[in-house]
Formats: sequence, structure tokens, C-alpha cells
Amino acid sequence: MDWGMRNRLSKIINPKDGRTLMLAVDHGYFLGPTTGLEKFREYVEPLVPYADTLFATRGMIRSSINPDIKTPIMLRNSGGTSILNKELLHEGITVDIEDVIRMNAVGIGYSITVGMPWERDTILDFSRVVDACERYGLIAMAVTAVGKELKRDARYLGLATRMAAEHGAHIVKTYYCDGFDKVVDACPVPIVMAGGKKIPEIDALTMAYNAIQAGAAGVDMGRNIFQSEDPVAMIRAVRELIHHDATPREALQFYEEHRQASGSRKKSGIAADDTKKI
Ligand code: 5RP
Repeated sequence: MDWGMRNRLSKIINPKDGRTLMLAVDHGYFLGPTTGLEKFREYVEPLVPYADTLFATRGMIRSSINPDIKTPIMLRNSGGTSILNKELLHEGITVDIEDVIRMNAVGIGYSITVGMPWERDTILDFSRVVDACERYGLIAMAVTAVGKELKRDARYLGLATRMAAEHGAHIVKTYYCDGFDKVVDACPVPIVMAGGKKIPEIDALTMAYNAIQAGAAGVDMGRNIFQSEDPVAMIRAVRELIHHDATPREALQFYEEHRQASGSRKKSGIAADDTKKI
């Protein structure tokens, strides 16, 4: 790994503890105005100071995020289908590498779809994206997107994460499952856990804690932060787990104490709750 790539990786994963809290707010690329992200600037900006990296689309970063932020950006670089499409997740490359550089992003995130009819397309495209990232010292994160019909178990996620690494991913984002340590052990590059659909705060904190205990470098969490009753208190609680070794109970207590202090956000309620499908 050359100097530029190592430098960018160190902006994502804190070299002091080897961990990261990535905030995933890319959901609109196929879900539109996702619950909790409708007023993107208003809802996301208060969370940014607590994230080590922001994972979002170039359109939302350009239109809705202040360019003065210090938080590094990972750009969603795959897409092409919406939640209404039967071939959801039949994705291709959406951002030219020159624009990734122009946006001063540290890298990209690309979904591969192992076990789905178009797995070949997404894996070959991902390999092209890795080539482009390698050329400019950018970080390529593979997201192991999982179709509804596939089981998110250690066997499947072990296959998908290992394939992502074999095809050159520098980081792999995947879902938590029983036996997650086996998934992590067989993947030679850092794994970050996706949060998945919204679950109670204690369950989300426990899942993140267990993923870290199993060897994950951290999380790239979205809905379990921005759909929380109090997203700022929740991202701070997740931070306690990741960077301050809090237990899930301690992190929940932190959440409760800070929730009372900051109050909860009113939802506009215009977005269809399609987010359970991913
Ligand atoms: C789908 C994705 C999402 O766009 C998102 O990043 C997932 O985050 P979360 O599950 O924590 O809401 O990667 O494959």
C-alpha cells in the first residue's frame, strides 16, 4: 500500500485504536427520501462531528454538506436501480474516478451482489473500480449487499466478504451474523458492520459491540443512528462503544443521559418506510 493510500486509510480507521465509526447516509440513492434523512442537511449536519467518516452520495454531499467539514468522505459509487425495480441491486458504476478526486473523497463504496443473478456484473465492475482507486491511492470499500432471498449467515457472508477481499477491496462492509468471528477471521482486510434495519437502541449497541469483539474494525451504520429517537445521542453512544470500550449497557446509559439533555427529533413522516427491505 503506497503512502497516499495509507494516509487516506488512516483518516477512516483511527491508527491509535484501529477502529472507525462511519456514518452511512447514502440510502437515498435507491430509496429516495428515506425516513430520517428527508431534510438531509438539517438531520445529517449535527451528526457529522461525531463520525470518523461520512458515507454518502456525491449529490447529497455537494448540495447539502458544508465543504468546510473536517470529516473525510467516502462516496457511494454504485447504483442504477430503485426500490421499485425487480432487479434491485443490479448496480453499476455511478461516479467517475476523477469526480471522486475532485470531491476530495478518501475513497468509495461499491455494492457487490454475491449469489444474485447479476453477481458477475457487480464483481467485474467492482474490480474496475479497485483498479481506478489503486491508480490514485483511493480506498475501495466493497459493500456485500444481500438480496431478500439470501440468508445472512456466516457461510454466505463469509463467502461474500472473502470474495470482496480477493477482488481487491481495502475495506469490506457487511452485516452482522452468528459466528461473525469466522467471517472476520477469513477476511484479510478490515471489516465494518452495517447496522441494518432499525432495531431498539440496546440491540443495535449490543450488535455493534459483538461485531467489535469478533474483530470488526468498527461500523458503517445508518438507520440505527439516524432513525433513532435521538440521533445525536445515539451516534455519541456508538462512539463510546467503538473508541472508549464501553459495554452495551454503559453505551445505553450514555444514550439515555444525553437523550434527556438534547430531546428528540420530529419526523416529517413523508418517506415510505421501505428501509426494512434492505
Ligand atoms: C445497502 C447499504 C445502505 O445504503 C446503507 O449504507 C446501509 O446502512 P444501514 O444498514 O446501517 O442503514 O449499504 O447495501
